[in-house]
Amino acid sequence: MAEGKGRVTLARTAGFCFGVDRAVKTVYRLAESDGMVCTLGPIIHNPQLIADLGKKGVRIIENPSEAPKGATVVVRSHGVADSVINELKSAGISYENATCPFVENIHKLVREASDRTIIITGDASHAEVEGIVGCAKSPCYVVSGNDELENLLNSHPEFAEKDIMMCSQTTFRVEEWEKCLKTLKKVYTKAFIFDTICNATEKRQTEAVALARENDVMIVVGGRTSSNTAKLRDVCSPYARTYLIETAEELSGIDEDWKNLNIGITAGASTPAIIIKEVLVTMAEIIENFAEMLEESFKNQNTDGSGRVHGVVSEITPTEVRVDIVGRKQTGYITLEELSQDPTVKPEDVCKIGDELDLLIMKTNDQEGMIMLSKRRVDALKGWDELAEAKENGTILTAKVTDVVKGGITVVVSGVRVFIPASLATENRGDDLAELKGKDVSFRMIEVDASGMRRKAVGSVREVLREQRKAQQEKFWEEVEEGQKFTGKVKSITNFGAFVDLGGVDGMVHVSELSWNRIKHPSEVVAIGDTVDVYVKSVDKENRRISLGYKNPDDNPWAILERDYPVGSVCEATIVSMQTFGAFARVIPGIDGLIHISQIADKRIEKPQDELKIGEVVKVKITDIDFEKRRVSLSIRALLEDEQAENAEAYDDIVDEDEAEETAE
Ligand code: F3S
Repeated sequence: MAEGKGRVTLARTAGFCFGVDRAVKTVYRLAESDGMVCTLGPIIHNPQLIADLGKKGVRIIENPSEAPKGATVVVRSHGVADSVINELKSAGISYENATCPFVENIHKLVREASDRTIIITGDASHAEVEGIVGCAKSPCYVVSGNDELENLLNSHPEFAEKDIMMCSQTTFRVEEWEKCLKTLKKVYTKAFIFDTICNATEKRQTEAVALARENDVMIVVGGRTSSNTAKLRDVCSPYARTYLIETAEELSGIDEDWKNLNIGITAGASTPAIIIKEVLVTMAEIIENFAEMLEESFKNQNTDGSGRVHGVVSEITPTEVRVDIVGRKQTGYITLEELSQDPTVKPEDVCKIGDELDLLIMKTNDQEGMIMLSKRRVDALKGWDELAEAKENGTILTAKVTDVVKGGITVVVSGVRVFIPASLATENRGDDLAELKGKDVSFRMIEVDASGMRRKAVGSVREVLREQRKAQQEKFWEEVEEGQKFTGKVKSITNFGAFVDLGGVDGMVHVSELSWNRIKHPSEVVAIGDTVDVYVKSVDKENRRISLGYKNPDDNPWAILERDYPVGSVCEATIVSMQTFGAFARVIPGIDGLIHISQIADKRIEKPQDELKIGEVVKVKITDIDFEKRRVSLSIRALLEDEQAENAEAYDDIVDEDEAEETAE
């Protein structure tokens, strides 16, 4: 029995293997993007996860012909025969191939061995082996172990004249494979042999046995129908009291004095991380002072601390990046979550094929030649240093807002998530934060603390915005001149005018400056938010006051009047109002002239209404303009008198002509 009771150790190899993790993530990603999703067979042997996917509308089908119209079909990590892929393609069914890359590699090997006889060690009825056989283009034999291999070779002496290739199912037993190798080599010295066993399963079992030896109790988490989970229980049982549970709730049914025991936990390859986590959290509740241990357990799951490597990007897919590790003949994978701190980023935005990346090793225990890597964590380590330096130097940083969260916004700088509280995210309190999502913001770091568990990086956008505004203002007051034109936004309106933001400085347009016509309130001409063209009427740099003009001098109706309507000219005008002393008529917009009562008709009238109506258009003569007092005098009578005078003149002419004729006679 191990020392120090109440210790809980989680196996590093617990839970999903690389291939299963990748396939499950593919299904969740598709299920979350609205469309209908089907998997060719259950994606893993875990009832809880299958039920959860079922709730998200994911259906299990046995072959492509069962796929509903419009559905996306996911090929699980076991892989399928080439004929299945061809069927999906020819039926025009959208599909995602989540075949484990290790299995894919075997498909490639058997396809390329078209001139060889192929022997596969494994379970002929297993989906993975069926898929491998379905990719072979030459005769293919499956043997479940060494005895079957010997029988096969004995019954096929003609193999001696052929090229033989042998590979295995990824989960084939290593000892049995060794025996098969010996047997084959005895007969064929030049056989092509490929060890395609994935050692994730073996490593998981070895670690489980080691844990069982060190602990009083072993908890094996996983589906009861999962064969690799059952195998884990079997290998642990000789060394510790072992319980197989499917969910955390089952812990309460186990009669053990947990606080006085050392406990080891492992999980099958198809056990989701969330279930393992629930088991750990439940344990934490049962055992006091377990928080630290829990933290350690989670940490163990994430990294084996084996350091950094360089990788050259060899392939980019929507969910991961593959790299060839420099100096090692190994392939590494970076999942989307480990690629960048920015959850919105696409792999192709982070790197391109051929790029050399600085990476942290997360896991090496899935398979020889397979390493799980993280770019995000390396970036974050460098990022903390960069942020501390930026704070020290007061450097202004710029980054895209990745999230609007409760209490503020977050941005990612050099792989580090920086929090900007709502009170420091905009220039003014109450500004809408949602509008910032996806936009670039400039900020300064105000707190950087990379020590301890709760690392903190806090920035302020407000500080930068205020500085920028101040600098803008200084520049404005230095350069502003009378007559200068601006395009600005109406910020506020009062009874006496409208305030216009000229870009950091506000100027006022007085109500009298808004229109050539008489208006009662600025809102008759402008509204808050309007973009307006204004010019500087006067500026008081000392007191930082500026008054603006909005009216266009070319539109000044008095100037138009002076130019186009001189005294003595005749025009049409509209009666707009009546008084006892006369009627006002609009000559042009902004100019109303008075037709005095004595000038309305060529006879005496009691009141203007006797001759005129509001809205009536009448011909008038401009008889006087007083530009200073802004008064215009109009007359209808003058026109009538002019007419009479003309008539009289015409009459006199006729009389003169008649008299002349008579004299002549
Ligand atoms: Fe792939 Fe090995 Fe898992 S072959 S699916 S990583 S057990």
